[in-house]
Amino acid sequence: GIVSTFAKMHFKCRATVVPYLNSTITRFLVPDDKVPWSVEWSSYLPVEYTDPSTNGKPWADSNDLSKMRFNELDGNVNRKSHNGDYLIDGNGRPLNPVGRTGLSGRGILGRWGPNHAADPIVSRIKDGRLQFVAIKRKDNGEWAIPGGMVDPGEEVSATLKREFGEEALGGKKSAEMDNIWRNGRRLYAGYVDDPRNTDNSWMETVVVNFHDYEGVMDDVQLEAGDDAASVRWVAADSNEPLYASHKSFIDLLCASITI
Ligand code: BGC
Repeated sequence: GIVSTFAKMHFKCRATVVPYLNSTITRFLVPDDKVPWSVEWSSYLPVEYTDPSTNGKPWADSNDLSKMRFNELDGNVNRKSHNGDYLIDGNGRPLNPVGRTGLSGRGILGRWGPNHAADPIVSRIKDGRLQFVAIKRKDNGEWAIPGGMVDPGEEVSATLKREFGEEALGGKKSAEMDNIWRNGRRLYAGYVDDPRNTDNSWMETVVVNFHDYEGVMDDVQLEAGDDAASVRWVAADSNEPLYASHKSFIDLLCASITI
């Protein structure tokens, strides 16, 4: 596949104009040149925050990190990063592979270290234009690729199908989709600049393109379900604003398909 170069800089997870999600916490301001951990910064004072409502949730880690096996498959929790081995700080906490975010702790993420997601881009060419299936997210009303979190022990290939089924097919089984899932091309695997990221917890995703070369999708009824309020085909060149880093994933799609 054509895995793009990993993100080397982050912006969304350094924003100080808005409070951190579901909180009144404001991040410590990190200038661009102070992002890399390799740059010494003795006066760096990140704000410590772990959303109390995540504590004890089945999808969240405990805050006792002593037994966690970072950079490894820890039981059925994948604590390996797509970006290679990440550093562990003096307190035994994983360090964000891109660098400082102005906020330490787990934030609202469930896992210390990488939090793995998967994004399926189902695409086709219709009337001479490249299109992909997009959903409108219930949580923030933004249009997005119908992705989601990889469950513990779940294969990424299964997450891709499951999330698409739940959000874009209304949870209904579709025999036609088996032809689509047969040919996936990995467009990206790695760190994502996501507003939830902290110094010690961050999002990573695997983006896989399933391009419909045979008009199979003409017989598939799209139906919004689960976390999606609606679903539709969106032209890849339409410049519509998209959730998180999804616009850059669609750019990768455009660059990889000749119309
Ligand atoms: C979303 C993915 C997204 C990832 C990183 C996940 O919660 O479901 O679509 O790529 O976060 O922003």
